Amino acid sequence: MQPFLDECRAVVGDAHVLTDPQAMAGFLTDWTGRWTGHAEAVIRPRTTDEVAAVMRICSSGDVDVCVQGGNTGLVGGSVPPSAAATGRPAVLLSTTRMTDIDDIDTVGRCVGVQAGATIDAIDTHAARSGLMFPIDLASRESATAGGVVATNAGGTRMIRHGNTRAQVLGIEAVLADGRLLRRWSSLVKDNVGYDVPGLLAGSEGTLAVITRVLFALASPPPATTVTVVAIDHVETALDLIGLLRSAGLTIEAAEIMTQAGVDLVHEHGQRRPVSTSAPFYALIEVSGVGEVESEMIDVLERADGIVDAVLEPGPARALWAARENHTEAISRSTTTPVVKLDVSFPLRALPEAFGELSAIEGLVGHPCRAILFGHVGDGNIHVNLLDVPPERTEEITARVFAVVAVNGGSISAEHGIGRAKTAWTHLGRSEVDRTTMRAIKTTLDPQGLLNPGVLFG
Ligand code: FAD
Ligand code: MLT
Ligand code: ZN
Repeated sequence: MQPFLDECRAVVGDAHVLTDPQAMAGFLTDWTGRWTGHAEAVIRPRTTDEVAAVMRICSSGDVDVCVQGGNTGLVGGSVPPSAAATGRPAVLLSTTRMTDIDDIDTVGRCVGVQAGATIDAIDTHAARSGLMFPIDLASRESATAGGVVATNAGGTRMIRHGNTRAQVLGIEAVLADGRLLRRWSSLVKDNVGYDVPGLLAGSEGTLAVITRVLFALASPPPATTVTVVAIDHVETALDLIGLLRSAGLTIEAAEIMTQAGVDLVHEHGQRRPVSTSAPFYALIEVSGVGEVESEMIDVLERADGIVDAVLEPGPARALWAARENHTEAISRSTTTPVVKLDVSFPLRALPEAFGELSAIEGLVGHPCRAILFGHVGDGNIHVNLLDVPPERTEEITARVFAVVAVNGGSISAEHGIGRAKTAWTHLGRSEVDRTTMRAIKTTLDPQGLLNPGVLFG
């Protein structure tokens, strides 16, 4: 048995250093089932001080540390590499016991939370004070504060409130050597040097262990209405967003699905949002202060290209269910772990790029299937490739990223790079940019202990 584990037991307690393979199994395979790693133990600290002590032990013992929140990440960053990938021992540091949520500051409209608090718990807590957490995603019951910051998650409300980085007012994090970095202030104007909390947003566990976050909160929208429109062209969704904005309505969410995706979620028990068949379906949620529903009907009647439409007052969970169940239905329908690519395009290029992505299925041939959906208002398309023989993953990923490169897009819109896309970061960042990122990594984590193999390969 590794002596450093006894030191960790002394810090967090015997019960929170898991070494039994069965107890560790759920932590060591990612949500998609595509990555399984190896760790000497899963360590579950309760406080920032315990995280700092564990990091000091790991740093002196040269032990790799993979940080995990809710393990809903989709790029393999939440699990350690396999035993063969590194010569050093590794532990998985899970934040699942760090779930405290402070009282809401209703004047400053913010809340401090521990890294393991789930998005659902934070939002429920904020709602009791008449506020809302601005980030929402279908994984809300498992995804954690630390996870959404570390991935800079987008989600369905991004079009309205921005990504997670935009919600971070302050942060507390433990560096690789155990030192505590704390910038904690509800000041919305505070320009003293670099935006370090912003730097940790999107750092994917490679720079520090985030232990607490001070998040900005938002007011929930006044009346909302949700429509799902059946449409023949992606442009129609973008035009509709423009018309709704011109009518004075606020876009709270703007999503897109395809016929194949809606058929798949229907096979898995979800009601079809619209009975008429069409190549695409856009789900758009709007808010406003007036007669939102009649204002939306007025716009829908004037809009070109709408084949059919349904409307429901918000929150319209039944309409949202068809969209939110895509991820689950896809993962249950594929014979090999789904290859999930999460790309974005300038809105002007989106219709053309969507067409090119749709052709990928034909190009790669049987048995692969492609299901596309995503956050159309942000230009973000999730390309899900099912039944891909593992030996073809790289070639098919390269085909998708070629479409991205030609259309001026990004290879990672909101899920991060993780282990999945390290070979392609040159498509999105210049050499100087990548060298700068590496220099930051080396400065904060000179031993390279935090999440080796993630982001940098
Ligand atoms: P994990 O999966 O545990 O970890 C993700 C990454 O963050 C890893 O690199 C890990 O090392 C790092 N990390 C976690 N906690 C910490 C910490 N405390 N300190 C430092 N690093 C840390 N993503 C979106 O952006 N938009 C969506 O709409 C969306 N929808 C989803 C729907 C479903 C059904 C599922 C399964 C996933 C979805 N995701 C979405 C992906 C995922 O939920 C997000 O990436 C989320 O932010 C991950 O949070 P987590 O707590 O599960 O993190
Ligand atoms: C979503 O928007 O539902 C997610 O990002 C999850 C996914 O891509 O499957
Ligand atoms: Zn998404």
